[in-house]
Amino acid sequence: MDAEGRSLNGLTVLVTGAASGMGRATAEIFAAEGANVAVTDFDGEGARAVAKFILEKGGVCRDWRLNVADKSEISKVVGAIVDEFGGLDIVINNAGISGFAPIDADNYDDVWSRLISVLLTGQQWVIRVALPHLRKSNSPRIVNIASTEALGATAMDSAYAAAKAGVTGLTRALAVELGREGITVNCVCPGPILTGMTEAIPDEARQKYARRRTAMGRYGRPEEVAHITVSLCMPAASYITGVTIPVDGGLMARNA
Ligand code: NAI
Repeated sequence: MDAEGRSLNGLTVLVTGAASGMGRATAEIFAAEGANVAVTDFDGEGARAVAKFILEKGGVCRDWRLNVADKSEISKVVGAIVDEFGGLDIVINNAGISGFAPIDADNYDDVWSRLISVLLTGQQWVIRVALPHLRKSNSPRIVNIASTEALGATAMDSAYAAAKAGVTGLTRALAVELGREGITVNCVCPGPILTGMTEAIPDEARQKYARRRTAMGRYGRPEEVAHITVSLCMPAASYITGVTIPVDGGLMARNA
């Protein structure tokens, strides 16, 4: 792998859900590697704060409020990103929410449609809007963030698990469909990671879960996932596509 193949310098990346957790870490690493970063999030103020932080460190970025469950907003923001940076090379579909409900809960339909729309439909919308621009890139990359809940499952988490398993299917199908064009489409499945999504879980419960379930015996840090996501986007990562990579401290490998 030559230095040019490892460089993200000057490439433009759209990160969804970049105000917090793994999205934020991913945006910061891309910026540190010289990419132009579109910091987007449903939480517009949060995105602005991340962009301010990146700019203060000398990175190149701009922030946009973007709800991935709103297709017209996606079109507007992608257009603005291309106007700002002159193109779009990389899409990181990271935005996410959680939502637990037993299958017979009265509000199950609400939970289902909310999770499917943000976690799954939003990903294909972002990809479809970005595609004409990715097709003009010399190094087009898509990384979709799923979860180990796509590979195993937890009770009361069926809507989330279905959405995330959908992300792995979407990833494989689009990898096959777009491979001849040199567009890679891969999927990262984080295990238990310390982010906004898991911060409400009491520390003791987190530690107990991590000791019992992971090989590493601990929760992961957002940047431990973000580094893998970013690696999949290097120009040199041109022959890996359609894969689903757990970054889970050995959770999926562990039986006992
Ligand atoms: P987080 O809560 O720290 O960050 C998620 C971000 O997504 C937030 O900034 C939030 O405002 C944004 N967001 C929520 N709905 C949105 C929408 N409709 N449009 C745009 N942005 C929206 O959570 P975390 O953990 O960093 O989540 C990142 C991804 O990782 C998600 O897809 C999540 O499902 C996934 N994941 C998280 C795990 C964990 O243990 N934290 C484990 C496995 C997967």
